[in-house]
Amino acid sequence: MKDERIDLGIPGLDKLLKGGIPRVNTILVTGAPGTGKSIFGLQFLVDGANKKEPGVYVTSEESLESINQNAESLGINLEELEKKNLISIIPQSVTGKILSLEEPLKQIRKNKARRIVIDSLTMFEFIYDKDYRRGLISFLTEAKELGITLLAISENFSSNISDMVFKEEDFLFDGLILLFKIRKGASFERCIHIAKMRGENYPINIYPLTITKGGMKILTDQIPFSLSEKEF
Ligand SMILES: Nc1ncnc2c1ncn2[C@@H]1O[C@H](COP(=O)(O)OP(=O)(O)OP(=O)(O)O)[C@@H](O)[C@H]1O
Ligand SMILES: [Mg+2]
Repeated sequence: MKDERIDLGIPGLDKLLKGGIPRVNTILVTGAPGTGKSIFGLQFLVDGANKKEPGVYVTSEESLESINQNAESLGINLEELEKKNLISIIPQSVTGKILSLEEPLKQIRKNKARRIVIDSLTMFEFIYDKDYRRGLISFLTEAKELGITLLAISENFSSNISDMVFKEEDFLFDGLILLFKIRKGASFERCIHIAKMRGENYPINIYPLTITKGGMKILTDQIPFSLSEKEF
């Protein structure tokens, strides 16, 4: 199992990563609001579910209804996957009951989950407060021991790649993927950049991406029009 590789389930990205990433891995997907972070996470779990690899989605961000609606707009029948125990959604209320990572960890063991999404890392700040970094490191170590793929999501306040500020936690993960929008004139373009993927040989370019009914897709054979020298 140590050398096993998996796809992330995002068309185009798996091609850039030349056949996916090692299964035991921790990846952070970061970006400004509306850049596609949650969709990335959902697609990653659906890809696992299609391969009969159960996944757990822990969210402090959205209600169950809103996650189901988001999935539905992408043509994903989340409720059916939940019924089959292929995806479990665990909402963590920041304002309501006290957050804890016990429940998600219990669910991972019970379902023999292979993939977990944490949407977003803000919940660690609520759980661990001043001990945030220590709490996160121990959770990442636990994920490695469980032999799963952990995909965490974090917010980045800059929507522009050139003034994105890296945070402490960015250094703790094996992989770091940036999602952002680039403006050219009155248009915005969705883009992706693999900032790091430990032990892997990957292209360090910026690629455009699309989000449609079919989900998120990376256009690996294009350079973003917003970065092109030629005026359109
Ligand atoms: N079916 C669809 N077709 C086209 N675009 C869609 C579709 N479904 C969602 N989107 C777009 O994808 C965008 C990104 O959604 P997503 O919820 O993944 O963003 P996010 O980065 O998680 O945002 P936040 O930080 O607010 O949680 C949405 O703002 C929406 O515009
Ligand atoms: Mg989101």
